[in-house]
Amino acid sequence: MRVLVVGSGAREHAIVHALRRSPEVSEVFAAPGNPGIAQAADLLPVAVDNIPALAEAAADLRIDLTVVGPELPLALGIGDEFSKRGLCLFGPTSVAAQLESSKVFAKDFCHRHEIATPQAMCVDTEEQAREAAKKFGFPVVLKADGLAAGKGVLIPSDQEELDEALETFFGRRSFGEAGTKVLVEEFVVGTEVSFMAISDGVNALPLATSRDYKRIGEGDSGPNTGGMGAHSPAMGLPKGLGRTIMDTVITPVIQGMAAEGREYRGVLYAGLMLTEDGPKVLEFNCRFGDPETQVVLLRLEGSFAALVKSAADGQLAPGGLSWRREVVACVVAAAYGYPGLPRKGDDITGIEEAMAQPAVTVYHAGTRMEGDRLLTSGGRVLSVCGRGPNLEAALETAYRGLGTINFDGKTFRRDIGADTLAQEE
Ligand code: GLY
Repeated sequence: MRVLVVGSGAREHAIVHALRRSPEVSEVFAAPGNPGIAQAADLLPVAVDNIPALAEAAADLRIDLTVVGPELPLALGIGDEFSKRGLCLFGPTSVAAQLESSKVFAKDFCHRHEIATPQAMCVDTEEQAREAAKKFGFPVVLKADGLAAGKGVLIPSDQEELDEALETFFGRRSFGEAGTKVLVEEFVVGTEVSFMAISDGVNALPLATSRDYKRIGEGDSGPNTGGMGAHSPAMGLPKGLGRTIMDTVITPVIQGMAAEGREYRGVLYAGLMLTEDGPKVLEFNCRFGDPETQVVLLRLEGSFAALVKSAADGQLAPGGLSWRREVVACVVAAAYGYPGLPRKGDDITGIEEAMAQPAVTVYHAGTRMEGDRLLTSGGRVLSVCGRGPNLEAALETAYRGLGTINFDGKTFRRDIGADTLAQEE
């Protein structure tokens, strides 16, 4: 099987790595990829939003399966274009990807299909937003309707922060077109859980559970990021939760989308809050989580290529997936300044030494080559993963790997998994 992976982050590096371990796969291409991915795939210099060029490349290279990492090409219709040309792609069409690309669509969809979600109001002026915020009280959640590179959610906890948030949305128009409509949502309390499932449009299979750490600072402080670390399994979740989420969220979504003529094939990522009244949907993503994918795929037994190809073909085999019993932990090394304006161009050393350690895997994200120098080139630079018989060992391995890697301004959290370990005691 000849496969193409679209994207250039650590998630896509993990996807390439999983495809390389799949016995059916003969050739792997990535567009545009990164220096780490280049060690396992042939890179194509095509941007993720250049849909015609990606389709052209897939046709020219006789690609049997394309796997899409980020949400942007899905929202732009890569699924539609590939389907029109008879090319096999794992990922939803643009109308199905609206579950992520329009928060208003997703909220209305939940209401139509009686999927539990926090109360919200859709507004398009500052005055309406103030009224809605008054109704829900502080803290209150404000979400840009469209895609905002993971930055479109603000949670003001007092009047001053609300004024600043409204200035961001309606004064400075910081989210552009994506912020024309805004969801003002009640803040719900509980444990946050990410849940991913693979669907062929009719059936869905859950992936292993994982826990990610979204804030930049230790003790879950500071601004949200794309994710600073993760571990799989999630651990400490109530027994039977996976079944409950499949029955009350994933299956109703897949059935509801099919009933609305928006068949959902691909990975469905539900961001959930486990409240006293059960799981409530905070958001959907139409793609694999990052860094959740890095930890989950290292635990997958069997062929990732066969799994996603069967889903893309609408023929997911029934029965569950098998997972290694070991734990995988991931610590993200970010650039100085992340998640604001990350500094670029710092020399990175020590990756080979890290990879030489047992049970360590390093995935590249914001890296680039300049001659024979490896430099930082983005916010999240590397995902360093460690495997172990338990979380403590997996974390120890990941942090030991990270310890050999150096670049100026290396920013990471020292407390990934610490809350889970404390719960276990
Ligand atoms: N780690 C969060 C996300 O992928 O959206």
